[in-house]
Amino acid sequence: MRDAWSPETYHRFQQERSRPFYDLCEMVRPRPVMRILDLGCGSGELTQYLHERLGACETIGLDASDNMLEKARALERKGLRFVKGQIELDPVAGEFDLIFSNAALQWAPEHEKILTIYAGKLRAGGQIAAQLPYNENSMFHAAARDVAQEFGGPLGGYVRHLEALAPEEYARLLFRLGFAEQEVLLRVYAHVLPSLDDVVEWYRGTLLTTYEARLDKETFERFVARYREVLGERFEDARPFFFPFPRILLWGSRRA
Ligand SMILES: C[S@@+](CC[C@H](N)C(=O)[O-])C[C@H]1O[C@@H](n2cnc3c(N)ncnc32)[C@H](O)[C@@H]1O
Repeated sequence: MRDAWSPETYHRFQQERSRPFYDLCEMVRPRPVMRILDLGCGSGELTQYLHERLGACETIGLDASDNMLEKARALERKGLRFVKGQIELDPVAGEFDLIFSNAALQWAPEHEKILTIYAGKLRAGGQIAAQLPYNENSMFHAAARDVAQEFGGPLGGYVRHLEALAPEEYARLLFRLGFAEQEVLLRVYAHVLPSLDDVVEWYRGTLLTTYEARLDKETFERFVARYREVLGERFEDARPFFFPFPRILLWGSRRA
């Protein structure tokens, strides 16, 4: 499978995409000399911001994409480094004061298992903070699944479903895992994009990468054209285009 993540395509909507990141940062309680693990760190700029904002002694960004890590590694400095690996395989050893993840957990399976593993890597007083989309039921995702079924042959029947539990399930899980304090929010980000076409470009940078990784270039361009067509049938092409985006923000702190 190809690495279809592209920092350039992903950053086209950097301002909109980073808003939830800053909201998540606000939920974290700064502590002295923190050791931080950022799961699915992407191209690393936000990891660097987190590292500096918290004055951490060590921050490790973990990501599975060479394309993203190539950018991130240019940001490495004393106390900040990036490693390759899959979130679900728990490849980074040691204990942490903060396990953080912005817009990445939705790509990793079995959240109960993942949160259990990472909760076990927290020191006393350690915190977990994660943000992930909660839009599997949106018409934009339904349209992508419908197009994926039309391309069932070249995709070998693959259809992408994003991973996310219901917000209250994360709350239950944090309680069960022994987090003494927690906050779980469902927040709808009200994005205003120039047109419906920009929604296609938005998803080209995220959701559609999983199809791009499995298709040749020409077939993927046909996939995108068909996705644009289906959205055009289901939405009015209003300009600007209102693009509401529900996201879950979760935070928990272990007893000190
Ligand atoms: C939407 S980007 C978010 C990047 C960054 N956290 C940010 O907020 O800008 C999602 C990132 O998760 C990474 N990713 C997806 N699945 C992963 C997995 N199973 N393990 C590790 N990284 C993964 C992708 O390579 C991508 O860089």
